[in-house]
Amino acid sequence: MRSATVSSLLSLPFLASAWLPGEHKQIVSRDGIDLFNRSSLYEHGLTKRSPGLPEIGDQVKVRGVNLGSHFIVENWMASTVFSGFGCKSDSEFDCVSSLNDQGKADSDFQGHWQSWVGADDFKKMSSLGLNTVRIPVGYWFLESIVDSSEHFPRGGEKYLDQAVQWAKDAGLYVIIELHGAPGAQATDAFTGQVNPSPGFFDNYNYDRACKWLEWMTDKIHSNPSYSTTGMIGLVNEPVRIGDSKYPNAQSQTDSMRRDYYPKAWTTIRNKEDSLNVAKDQQVHIQMMDKKWGSGDPNEFLPDQSFWHAAYDDHQYVKYTDAEVSHQGYIDFSCADDRSGNWPTIVGEWSLSVNSDVEHNSDWDPNNEANKDFYRKWFAAQIMAYERGQAIGWTFWSWSTSGLNDPRWDYQMGVDAGIILSNLDEAYTIGAC
Ligand SMILES: *[C@@H]1O[C@H](CO)[C@@H](O)[C@H](O)[C@H]1NC(C)=O
Repeated sequence: MRSATVSSLLSLPFLASAWLPGEHKQIVSRDGIDLFNRSSLYEHGLTKRSPGLPEIGDQVKVRGVNLGSHFIVENWMASTVFSGFGCKSDSEFDCVSSLNDQGKADSDFQGHWQSWVGADDFKKMSSLGLNTVRIPVGYWFLESIVDSSEHFPRGGEKYLDQAVQWAKDAGLYVIIELHGAPGAQATDAFTGQVNPSPGFFDNYNYDRACKWLEWMTDKIHSNPSYSTTGMIGLVNEPVRIGDSKYPNAQSQTDSMRRDYYPKAWTTIRNKEDSLNVAKDQQVHIQMMDKKWGSGDPNEFLPDQSFWHAAYDDHQYVKYTDAEVSHQGYIDFSCADDRSGNWPTIVGEWSLSVNSDVEHNSDWDPNNEANKDFYRKWFAAQIMAYERGQAIGWTFWSWSTSGLNDPRWDYQMGVDAGIILSNLDEAYTIGAC
């Protein structure tokens, strides 16, 4: 198993190096450290050379975390945030409307944006060998496209700019994605609302999303805080074909691929042309990988050379048909092939396990007896997400509150010893 892993890595180095961030934008921290260069990490003591490390090259893959529940609070993983505001809601929309006081909502959320992450969080990410942060953002951060019937906190933009600047200071590559689209692209609170019939899939909302993308593209190329932001995601986790929750998913996703993706693509590239952005400085435009289940994102793109296209592949093993045993999980991830579209980043994954067993003692992540399993499964996952067409990953999520589960919380996972603080050890601890 291990030798297969190594040889598949070695057979594709040109694919990976043709895309990785350092190729197009020099990503160097304020301390002069290139977090995508293994030798540079060793030199600055951010990663220790692991004895027995196979030849995996100098180019470090995308290794990152999500800033989940920072700009879109989800109650399941951040319950103390809403309870602190006096909301009993799953989503931001419901929280703001239940407060029935826009001024209070704005100041509550601004307090959250000031405190959920700070400059030290981004420094801590780089000290753990991470080089990337994926930032989920809602459409309501561009306040001019919010309708009067839509209830969201205001004043977020400057906190987004600040977070991106801190990420840059720490030398991190930044992916910004439209995680909460106008009308909602799914029924879940990650969209910022709980809309029982997702309303994103029409021209009115596509136009609003394109205004957001144009605004974000302008920021990325015009605001120096964004000089390490290299990727924009068009829409996170839209409805999936075949999911019984979404009887109209086929026509909705057809419309998304036929109407929204080309319009979004053209909006971003036209904005870049108007700003005289050189081709090799253009952002990567990221769409859900075809494995997601909303069709092949490439089908109708106006640029069939797919220049600076990228793909987002979410892999929560807890929801797969992996055999529910420690070895079953490890075997599943050791053999996992995330090929689909290229290049793909596994933009969301975690260490959470099948909901039927997640609270059993033999799956308790804080139980010493289970830690070796979790560490090896973590290692198996990151090796899978760094091979072949998968050029790296961002874990969901950096921090949580009220959930108290290190399988969803990177920092807690490191503290519990189930997430490796030296990521290259994934290749040397015999997971696969
Ligand atoms: C990687 O870092 C090493 C050590 O700082 C440096 O000598 C080398 O030139 C760097 N490689 C690239 C491709 O930047």
